[in-house]
Amino acid sequence: MKVRRPDIDFSDVGPHWAPNTEAAHLINAANLVPAYVEPFLLKVMRQAKRRLDPAGDADLLADLDIFNGQEAQHTRMHAAAFRVVRDRYPGVVEYEDAYRASYDRFLAGKSLRFLLAYADGFEAYASATAPAWVDGALDPLFAGGDQRSLDVWKWHLAEEYEHRSVVFSVYERLYGRPAWRAWLYRAAMYVYTQVHLGWFTARLYRYLLARDRAGMSARERIASRRRTRAVAVHAGRAFLRDMLRPLSPVYDPARVPPPTRLEETLARYDAP
Ligand SMILES: [Fe+2]
Ligand SMILES: [Fe+2]
Repeated sequence: MKVRRPDIDFSDVGPHWAPNTEAAHLINAANLVPAYVEPFLLKVMRQAKRRLDPAGDADLLADLDIFNGQEAQHTRMHAAAFRVVRDRYPGVVEYEDAYRASYDRFLAGKSLRFLLAYADGFEAYASATAPAWVDGALDPLFAGGDQRSLDVWKWHLAEEYEHRSVVFSVYERLYGRPAWRAWLYRAAMYVYTQVHLGWFTARLYRYLLARDRAGMSARERIASRRRTRAVAVHAGRAFLRDMLRPLSPVYDPARVPPPTRLEETLARYDAP
């Protein structure tokens, strides 16, 4: 595990970066999540760190530092990708504000147990879906598109796989007993996290599609809706089975199988 610092330039990448613009918008909307969830994760980890033992938890604390470094880089790159969309669709600011405010409310009013379980819900989702991104199950949706918009996700999810055990270990360390209650709470929060993320992403996605469709003919709108459904079916097939894995009472991220192309994906960003 280590911190890598890709420098992907999105300044000349438009929101319609793939011929299937409904697919491109799905990623455009999804960029909202890492632009804001990862700063939230850093704040949660800062709180959790204070509860760990500098001597007894030295290895976990060292992993946390690398985790924080990786997440900070994820935010930086996804925020850059998201900026391009915001420039062309100024209405997205409203969606950003609402999403950011939901984390501010969490941080102000929720227990560390809630915050950690939410963070674990995000981390478990990210590492479970990493193979679909890294190994190319989603690639056909973006055929003929600008590779940079996809590469940022492949790199990010490869690192999510790499640091998949960190938040889980912190949660287990602080709230892991009794095991049945730790699992029940974690599983419930996993569902909560997916609904929370899905709610904000889906609303933004609908907004982007609606803006595009406002300038389309009736026939084009029908075709756009058909493509959107096909995108949802494709993504659902790629994600669904792996997404259920973290709900298991014996789930351990350490045992999640790696994406086949993990090493080669990360190696692209290993150069000094
Ligand atoms: Fe991340
Ligand atoms: Fe992560």
